[in-house]
Amino acid sequence: MKSVLKNLLPYGVVRAIQRRTRENKRRREPVGRATSTAPASEDREFSVEQAIRFLAARGLDEDQVRQGSIPAASLNRLAEILAAEFGPRRTLGLHVGNFVGVSLAAVAAANRSRCPDSLVIAIDPNIPHRGIPNPQEHVAALLDHFGLAQSVLPVAGYSLEKSVSNDGIRYDGAYDPLLRHADEHACANTLPHLCDLLPERFDFVLIDGNHDDAYLARELQCCARLLRSGGLLVLDDVCETWAGIMDLFFELGDGYECVLMNDRIGIARKR
Ligand SMILES: C[S@@+](CC[C@H](N)C(=O)[O-])C[C@H]1O[C@@H](n2cnc3c(N)ncnc32)[C@H](O)[C@@H]1O
Repeated sequence: MKSVLKNLLPYGVVRAIQRRTRENKRRREPVGRATSTAPASEDREFSVEQAIRFLAARGLDEDQVRQGSIPAASLNRLAEILAAEFGPRRTLGLHVGNFVGVSLAAVAAANRSRCPDSLVIAIDPNIPHRGIPNPQEHVAALLDHFGLAQSVLPVAGYSLEKSVSNDGIRYDGAYDPLLRHADEHACANTLPHLCDLLPERFDFVLIDGNHDDAYLARELQCCARLLRSGGLLVLDDVCETWAGIMDLFFELGDGYECVLMNDRIGIARKR
């Protein structure tokens, strides 16, 4: 076929094709086989402190990472409760609001200790948060560092409709979330999609995304549809600073029973 075409095409065209093929070959330089590699470090033990050190070593502002993440005491308590509730059973979890991955890695590590086949679906729009652009790349690096990258299914999108970043707060006089709103892009309505695809399939849902109480109230309606009976709802910032979130936790009603409130997180079991 090649030689037939060669004879039919004008000489100039044939030379041009040959030149192009040679150039393409020069641009492609195989440096190794695209084979799979083992997870970076399955055996590296997770701790919140080690996670923060890892992220700081990547150049992130340690204060912003600490202040923007659920503290170690609450994450350790959550790990104990997940172990007590679910034991070695395989679970499907949902995590909304990843930032740079501290609470997500903590939950994935807690799952690995109980039942390594468990999965967490992790929703976040990957917009700048607390002055950190493209936070998802740090999430992936953190999960990889602790050998947890296979235990998380990331979904890059808003839980509901597009919302203002940084909870409408300007940190350190820098990034203005209102001025930059039009430049931020992500897919939307991930929770309603999951409600259609996986109703009553989740063993636990942790919500720590947009802190606007009206927005969170609608996320909670989705959670009620996503959680199976006996599943756990985990809310961050159930405290005086976020009075609207605390009110919503108190107003969950008869459909839930309280498992924990520690001035930071609230955990309730769906009846
Ligand atoms: C407080 S941080 C999460 C901290 C994280 N849970 C931790 O403890 O490591 C809130 C995160 O939610 C994200 N977020 C904001 N609005 C959201 C929305 N509508 N849907 C999902 N995530 C949202 C932010 O971009 C940010 O990454």
